[in-house]
Amino acid sequence: VKRILSGIKPSGDLNIGGYVGALRQYVMFQNEYEGFFFIPDLHAITVPQDPKELRERSRQIAALYIAAGVNPDKSTIFLQSQVPAHAELGWIMETQAHFGEMSRMTQFKDKSEGKDVVSSALFTYPALMAADILLYQATHVPVGDDQKQHLELTRDLATRFNNRFGETFTVPEPVIQEIGARVMGLDDPSSKMSKSNPNTSSYVLLLDTPAVIRKKFSRAVTDSDMAVRYDWDAKPAVSNLIEIYSVFGDVSIADVERRFEGQGYGAFKKELAEVVIAKLTPFQEKYEELIQSEELDRILKEGARKASEEAQKTLDAAKRAMGLLVY
Ligand code: TYM
Repeated sequence: VKRILSGIKPSGDLNIGGYVGALRQYVMFQNEYEGFFFIPDLHAITVPQDPKELRERSRQIAALYIAAGVNPDKSTIFLQSQVPAHAELGWIMETQAHFGEMSRMTQFKDKSEGKDVVSSALFTYPALMAADILLYQATHVPVGDDQKQHLELTRDLATRFNNRFGETFTVPEPVIQEIGARVMGLDDPSSKMSKSNPNTSSYVLLLDTPAVIRKKFSRAVTDSDMAVRYDWDAKPAVSNLIEIYSVFGDVSIADVERRFEGQGYGAFKKELAEVVIAKLTPFQEKYEELIQSEELDRILKEGARKASEEAQKTLDAAKRAMGLLVY
């Protein structure tokens, strides 16, 4: 069976980067693959979180999965912390991961840089991420470009474990789209669009109102040239906006270029905002319904039950293979 697994951390409000890079792929592949989509709350707590906000955001991410089109009747949606096997296999993965290879993870370097205090969990995070994936024998993992290195590590750990202890884990493939794998900040095309950027105009949130979305796109940086032309080397800011248009408007890059030929950036950015709003408005309506409902909690509870059943099989197999007793 083909199985996909992926997740979005509840550590901040979801921006369109996470949708374009990851969430839209969950929807694209859910009919063809068996889907496991989880909320990695144990990953979120590797940096300080306010308990009330964490609780709210975890439900919020789950509601956004469904609002954006993940079908809870088809796919399993659950919270990581409700399936204890993640923490258990995470520990086992830490015993297989080398300190040296973990030290090379660029995400850890980025997130720890300039901080006085960093949790040890932030460092061991990629071992838990490997466990998330391997527990479900996922064949494919749809992510944005920034998770590539973690996926590579996951593949290395799975292969190492299999070689040492016998075939236990499926070695997963990352699935990264060519367009939209790395959405950049609207204020600076050299840094990834991220909710941790203090400049709120640098990102568009899935739950931003139309007025806010219009304002943010109107402020987006461009360049001193005039042409809506796709060229990452010469025109990174405009190329970033063209990719966003292409994904939200469901048209090719060439079509975007053609459509705005001879027009200035003003017209382009205006229409870009409308294309994004048109896609997000139905998500937001569905979201408002779900977030109030007990239906959402029912889905998450049932998801955790199904996920636990799957995860336990792999955890037991891994334990047995290593010589840990399973009764
Ligand atoms: P996270 O929560 O930072 O991001 C969630 C997903 O969104 C993608 N993404 C982006 N893609 C394109 N452009 C952007 N600006 C952008 N920002 C975010 C990310 O690549 C990711 O796919 N470690 C993971 C969460 C995780 C996970 C897993 C993912 C934990 N366990 C197992 C897959 C499988 C993370 O921090 O993603």
